[in-house]
This record gives sequence, C-alpha cells and structure tokens, in this order.
Amino acid sequence: MLKIVNNCHYHKKLARELIESIIDFHSTKEFLIKIDDTSLTLCCEIQNQQTCFSHSFTEPKLLKRAAQKNQLLLKACNNKKREIHSVVDLTAGWGRDSFILATHGQNIIMSEQNPLIYNCLNFLIKIARHDDAEEVYQRLKVINMNSADYLSEKDAGFADCLYLDPMFPAHKSSALPSKDLQILQILTDNLNIDELFELALQKARYRVVVKRPVHAKTLSDRKPDMVYKEKTIRFDVYLTNNR
Ligand SMILES: C[S@@+](CC[C@H](N)C(=O)[O-])C[C@H]1O[C@@H](n2cnc3c(N)ncnc32)[C@H](O)[C@@H]1O
Repeated sequence: MLKIVNNCHYHKKLARELIESIIDFHSTKEFLIKIDDTSLTLCCEIQNQQTCFSHSFTEPKLLKRAAQKNQLLLKACNNKKREIHSVVDLTAGWGRDSFILATHGQNIIMSEQNPLIYNCLNFLIKIARHDDAEEVYQRLKVINMNSADYLSEKDAGFADCLYLDPMFPAHKSSALPSKDLQILQILTDNLNIDELFELALQKARYRVVVKRPVHAKTLSDRKPDMVYKEKTIRFDVYLTNNR
C-alpha cells in the first residue's frame, strides 16, 4: 500500500502528475512517499525500524560527490577520452551514477523498468531543471522500459557505452546496505539481467560497464577486459566493437 503526503507548494502541477502516475502502484509493504519542493522521501518499515531515504538532484552533498574528478566510474566509462559520446544507463535506479556521468559532460539516457522509481526519478529531474539553470539536468533523459526490450529495438553501435548496475545479491554476513538500497530492494528487482548483459555486448559501440560488489562473480563467463576496484564495489569493463 502506498501513502502519499504532498507538501509541495512550488511545483504543484508536477506533484499532481507524480501522484496520478504512482497512486495505483502495488507493493506488498506499506510505503510512505513525501513530496517536497526540492526532494522526495520514501519511508518503509524494515526489520521493525522505520527506514527513510530522501532524494534530490540539487542536494549539496550529491552535487559535491558528483563533482569529484577521480572517480572510478568516470574511468570505467572512459569519460576523459573523447570517444565516448553517448551512454545509456540500463538500470537507472535512483539515477545517481548517471548524474555523476552527466556532471562530467555526458549525455545520458536512463532506462528504468519499475514505474514507481521511474516516475520519482522523472519528477526529481523535472524539478531540478526548473530550479537550477545548470546544464547537467538537460543532459539526463529518463525512460520507463525493460532495458532488454529497449536494446532489442536498437541497432548495433547505437550508443558508445552501455552501463549496468543490477541489484546486488544479498550478502550472508554483511550488514544491511545503505537505506536507499534497502528501499530499492523492497520496491523492485532485476529483470532479465543475463539477457540484458548479452544484448549490451552486442549493441554497445565501444564498451559495456558493469558495477558489481567487489567480491561478486562476474555477470557471465566472459572475463572483463579491465577491472576498476574500490573498497566495496568494482567496475567490470568489457570492450566491444559494434558499428
Ligand atoms: C541497484 S539499482 C541502480 C542504482 C543506480 N545505479 C543509482 O545510481 O542509483 C538497479 C535498478 O535497475 C532496475 N532494473 C533491473 N532490471 C532492469 C531492466 N531489465 N530494465 C530496466 N531497469 C532494470 C531496477 O528496477 C533498479 O531500480
């Protein structure tokens, strides 16, 4: 069940559109969504605790993080070299990885299959575009599709880089993931990830980049051509040549 609290006074029309688009969303758990002028907050009970996550593309902490230059995501997507001109994020989620790439000049299409997450993302990008003249928001476009269907319709080489960040498998011993991921895990799931990865290899012009937990298995038997490791995650890079 979804409970919606609308405290949005400035973007009334966009808030109304958001409510209309998510009101019928079905979830097994009770969810609260608070709509404010600059952000959305999602709350739900997880392990007997009320867990909330607020998201906004104009929040200073995210802007600061996105602006950092030495991020492995940028290296993995080869953002410094000129050859990558188009990136499609096939698992958009809350859109933060896309936002980092867009902050450094990439045009991004973000594809998200879950209608609730898609509509939240769309709302947050629209209000950010309205409130902030920065060009980064114009570089983000979000679509509501199963990315496997999206890729099936595309010609080989239509995008330079295809990016995947599937939901991580639950880890037996580890502590709970961050709140945003806990909430994502309840709201949504991976859809056709194996198929999506194989299609991505056939369609990406130059590379496919996959974000994984640092010790997780690769998505398939194919060995990545490059791996960029951080403390808890890594980026597997598969070079392609589809024109
Ligand atoms: C771990 S989240 C991505 C988080 C994202 N990288 C970020 O920075 O916020 C994975 C997302 O992929 C979406 N997803 C999974 N399979 C998909 C598919 N076949 N097509 C589109 N979206 C998919 C899920 O609904 C989920 O929202």
